[in-house]
Amino acid sequence: MDLLFVCLGNICRSPAAEGVALVLSRGDSRIGRIDSAGMGPWHAGNPPHVTMCEVARAAGYPIDDLRARQVDRSDFFEFDWILAMDRQNQRDLLALQATFGGKAKIRLLLDGAPDGIYEVPDPYGGAISDFQDSFSLIRSGVRAFLAHP
Ligand code: 4NP
Repeated sequence: MDLLFVCLGNICRSPAAEGVALVLSRGDSRIGRIDSAGMGPWHAGNPPHVTMCEVARAAGYPIDDLRARQVDRSDFFEFDWILAMDRQNQRDLLALQATFGGKAKIRLLLDGAPDGIYEVPDPYGGAISDFQDSFSLIRSGVRAFLAHP
């Protein structure tokens, strides 16, 4: 399966999810391509937010080398799963798929997660603790997804 993680800017939440998935899926023959993208174009080409880089690196998931990009029509055809960080992302992705078509299954990353929280809060502009809280949710969400896709 090919996995695409999506948030709004592709510099905080979805690159963190990509970084966690890259590590946790090592040696997992079910997993093909792993990528992330943002709904908006603003940060295309940029590395992830410096605070998310620090939080992810401290947890053992380096994401400094990732670069942001915007969601593209081809994503809906190339990826099996598109995992949205919040309900607004999910709605926007479903609206694009209604126009573009494509086989990708779109769901919230945290849909199968154990915490009873279904959206990853956007930490952009927040304190380091906001980044840490979002990162923890992302890590358990990716774990839960890989256990039960
Ligand atoms: P992300 O956070 O969606 O988790 O990457 C954001 C980053 C940037 C913006 C919004 C959210 N922005 O509006 O620039």
